[in-house]
Amino acid sequence: MKKLIVANWKMNPRTWQEAEELFNAVKETEAVICPPFVYLRELGIMNHESGIRLGAQNVFWESQGAFTGEVSSLMLKDLGCEYIIIGHSERRKYFNETDENVNKKVKAVIEAGLIPIVCVGETEGERENNKTEEILEKEIKDGLNEIDYSQIVIAYEPIWAIGTGNACDIEEAERMKEVIQKMTSKNVKIIYGGSANADNADGYLSQANLDGLLVGGASLKPDEFKRITG
Ligand code: PGA
Repeated sequence: MKKLIVANWKMNPRTWQEAEELFNAVKETEAVICPPFVYLRELGIMNHESGIRLGAQNVFWESQGAFTGEVSSLMLKDLGCEYIIIGHSERRKYFNETDENVNKKVKAVIEAGLIPIVCVGETEGERENNKTEEILEKEIKDGLNEIDYSQIVIAYEPIWAIGTGNACDIEEAERMKEVIQKMTSKNVKIIYGGSANADNADGYLSQANLDGLLVGGASLKPDEFKRITG
């Protein structure tokens, strides 16, 4: 099965000019690129000839109306997005996103015909206190309540591994894949995120047989990212 490599640009690059440069440098790859909302339209237009698919980093669950500052699934679909990252730990931490919010967003995204990439994962403290499975269980039970697992991608992103250079061991990522499969379904697509880079990517994809990677920091470095996508 083809691996799903997702670039999460987060709140980068700083300007449209830099975004255009970065996109041009990686457009030969087969990846999903999730830029900030404001770059999506132009990248969608530039994208016609490339193998890139577009995604967004967030969405609101309502379809339209008086929700200042928010963006709907339909708006993102209209710009050519196919995937939406939901419940990233940075959104949970800085914007107080709850599993209940995640659940509403996942439903709205599926309803619009797009594919949600739902992030789950534990903090360092939770792992040290043997709470990892409990945390995942809650995020899955509440965040994915009444969701058809065949319509989503789950990103296992241990929070202690995100942006730290301290990537999860390959064997442990594989074990966590099995834990998540037990909580959901054998067939659910599971990708890994957290300091994924060109050196460890193959371990997650081949050895642990994960379905793909969610790449933050390394997706901003074209040479590194191209090595990850192969
Ligand atoms: P990182 O981020 O690759 O920089 O650790 C991954 C993510 O937050 O999705």
